[in-house]
Amino acid sequence: MRTQVAIVGAGPAGLMLGRLLELAGIDTVVLERRSESHVLGRIRAGILEQGTVDLMDRAQVGERLHVEGLIHHGVELSFDGDRHRLDFSRLVGREVMVYGQTEVTRDLMAARQATTIYRAEGIVLHDFDTSHPWISYQAGGESHRLACDFICGCDGYHGVSRQSVPTGAITSFERVYPFGWLGVLVDKPPVAPELIYAHHERGFALCSQRSPVRSRYYIQVPTDERAEDWSDDRFWDELRARLPADVAAAVETGASIEKSVAPLRSFVAEPLRFGRLFLAGDAAHIVPPTGAKGLNLAMRDVASLADALAEYYAETSSAGIDAYSAHALHRIWRAERFSWWMTNLLHSFPETGPFGRRIQRAEFDYLTQSTAAQMSLAENYTGFPD
Ligand code: FAD
Ligand code: DHB
Repeated sequence: MRTQVAIVGAGPAGLMLGRLLELAGIDTVVLERRSESHVLGRIRAGILEQGTVDLMDRAQVGERLHVEGLIHHGVELSFDGDRHRLDFSRLVGREVMVYGQTEVTRDLMAARQATTIYRAEGIVLHDFDTSHPWISYQAGGESHRLACDFICGCDGYHGVSRQSVPTGAITSFERVYPFGWLGVLVDKPPVAPELIYAHHERGFALCSQRSPVRSRYYIQVPTDERAEDWSDDRFWDELRARLPADVAAAVETGASIEKSVAPLRSFVAEPLRFGRLFLAGDAAHIVPPTGAKGLNLAMRDVASLADALAEYYAETSSAGIDAYSAHALHRIWRAERFSWWMTNLLHSFPETGPFGRRIQRAEFDYLTQSTAAQMSLAENYTGFPD
């Protein structure tokens, strides 16, 4: 089999890249290790920046999102029970949208015309340092070979693409946090109209949502904690202990429909291009989820990669693909800084001691008192226009 652009991974990055290239008349094949239902069963991000909403429109998959997505004009922060609302519309004239990553993925899957091969196993990338890269893989019990002009590695943090790059050609920057997020999805109305990010000495908590009847809650837990060890009752008790009293009293609890632990990590690989292999999305970088940046950043990567590849095919110009890595890394480090900062503000770091907590409190107080500080958070959270 032969295609112009081989895309590894059918997460939001791979599917969006495939869709944008399809609309530009470029042939793609997506190779995904998991089944379609497994990909759709993963519960992850929930917040879309305006830039991501615009990209969904550009990809002609925004119809359902405009019906079901919820526009949020601000968020609430809480520190040891003290609360402060940030009004994004007033501060920076921008909003965000609540629309689950699962739904983004579903919309992109439904629109895709070209080939996607699910359950593609044993993927190996070959000769991407030449002008004739190819991929070998197994599917349906048989070995296959896919020849292409370019390979785009959109296969997430644990994917094969980044690992295929010779060690000396890539540099990684990483910070692993000593905790993760335990998330619960429940078919109950959200506790508040907007998200609540709460710092408490017992640890961070987040009240999020997916729809007017479906809520998503997270609590900070030690990294080695297992979701199976958390009964629903234990989760609700711990969540409520970390929220302001009136919010805690209003949480509608119920049987969880999903419960999982996600580790927190900051990670960047440099550069993002190796001959005819490009990295995009979580394959290239990870942010801790606190700033809601990961999905949005992945979407930005593939939007610029699609433009660069379209320019290459339409004008035989390699200017776009040559600039991709440096441009993307600038944007990536901006989001890394913000996600790291917001993680530091809101989580409990026992190792930093009483001094660390006082600094966090001072940071929160500064935020509540300074419009400049609020604007800084708001412009980062809602996303910089490119
Ligand atoms: P992925 O979604 O990881 O997709 C990669 C795909 O590649 C997967 O389908 C995988 O099965 C496939 N794959 C892996 N290895 C191989 C292989 N060897 N061969 C073939 N296929 C392979 N981001 C936000 O912007 N906002 C949020 O609110 C937010 N909240 C989050 C909450 C949680 C709990 C978590 C865990 C993440 C959150 N994120 C958030 C981050 C966001 O989910 C990710 O950044 C996003 O999924 C990245 O998309 P991707 O397509 O790059 O990677
Ligand atoms: C959600 C996840 C986040 O990381 C975040 O900052 C806000 C919301 C969510 O899954 O709803």
